[in-house]
Amino acid sequence: MSFSGRKFSINRNTGAPRERRFSTAKGPSESELNSAAHRQFRNAHDGHKPHAGLDPSRASTGVVWCTERAYEQGYLEAPHKWANFGQGAPECEDEIEGCFPRPTEIPLSLNAREYGPTAGIKPLREAVAKLYNEHHRRNRRSQYSWENVAIVPGGRAGLIRIAAVLNNAYLGFFIPDYTAYNEMLSLFKNFAAIPSPLSVEDEYQIHPDKIAEEIARGVSVIITSNPRNPTGGVVKNPDLAEIQGICRDRATLIMDEFYGGYNYSTNCDGTVISAADNIDDVDEDDVLIIDGLTKRFRLPGLRVAWIVGPKEFIKAIGSCGSYLDGGANVAFQEAAVPMLEPAKVKEEMKALQAHFKMKRDYVIDRLREIGFKDVVCILGTIFEQLRIPLTNQTESPRSHLLHLARCRMSPQEDQRRIEFLPGLS
Ligand SMILES: Cc1ncc(COP(=O)(O)O)c(C=O)c1O
Repeated sequence: MSFSGRKFSINRNTGAPRERRFSTAKGPSESELNSAAHRQFRNAHDGHKPHAGLDPSRASTGVVWCTERAYEQGYLEAPHKWANFGQGAPECEDEIEGCFPRPTEIPLSLNAREYGPTAGIKPLREAVAKLYNEHHRRNRRSQYSWENVAIVPGGRAGLIRIAAVLNNAYLGFFIPDYTAYNEMLSLFKNFAAIPSPLSVEDEYQIHPDKIAEEIARGVSVIITSNPRNPTGGVVKNPDLAEIQGICRDRATLIMDEFYGGYNYSTNCDGTVISAADNIDDVDEDDVLIIDGLTKRFRLPGLRVAWIVGPKEFIKAIGSCGSYLDGGANVAFQEAAVPMLEPAKVKEEMKALQAHFKMKRDYVIDRLREIGFKDVVCILGTIFEQLRIPLTNQTESPRSHLLHLARCRMSPQEDQRRIEFLPGLS
């Protein structure tokens, strides 16, 4: 009889169940015992009632945890009174000067009532190929065609499709990076996902030496966001080109470029950061680029995204939609076609960069004003990185978390709207 699915640990010699273990291996500390938020978090997992076949830990991500706690404190009723740092999303209103108005109605053509192709409708695949050729591959012999593009129902669905077509490989991903990678990659058995921590000395950034190291230890697929979630770091040329050179013929590079438009390093001229600039042959260089309407077009609800890469990869990624998600919504794909006209996108990116750079500058100035001198001035994305200084030797990161917990429990309502994920790095 096997106990491999048990949710408790057993002493192999005596057969008796062991005390529940904590990640510290010592049980909760004094300060944790005094923190209601930490206790609530610990208890949540044991508190789930068992249901046959359900792994409750899969349903309990950090973002979901924070959002649920915020709901308990009234976030749903009065979202305008809160600042949501948990879900990185740009505003989707029509108030950014120079941006095109987002659609308010989307027609349902007869075509849109039918199942669409799981690789996406051809006009949108063509529009994406044209956008990349005009913005990133001018004067290049090798150009993208519609067959180099798969349309997918959002970025995460696209990442799942990519993961589904990988074969027997070590896949390297970095920490920190977009948190969905860790959870999503751990679901797949067709490859082994290998985390690789980035160091504070490198500003939590990848660089050519790091990539060479990963390849040397046997990694043959690498996934990274650039610009980077959550640090706001950007790898630009010549480093980006060097990284692509190292990977050429050695490893497949999956470039998550959802924040490529949020680039503040080129004077808000609309330049988008993309590995597409450095690809020699679009069908030979194993670079898969993933992006979509979610971030730089500020339309996360439409769930329209794309993967650009070598035809053979794209064929597989398009086909596996038939057993995974069934493809992106056809009407929304049709609506996306005119949005991707290259000249229009250039203007949109200029406006986006000017607006979000202004927001970045405001946040940095305010943080410095209120005493956080160690704030990093990011060059991309919509994130900001704040290192909380430990002001004396005895102060630990835990005390900062306890301070956050106190804010949460404050009797003064206005100080209470802070939810966080208890945990230490
Ligand atoms: C780096 C990165 N990639 C992909 C996505 C996923 O986008 P989507 O909402 O389209 O699934 C996000 C969303 O937060 C992201 O931060």
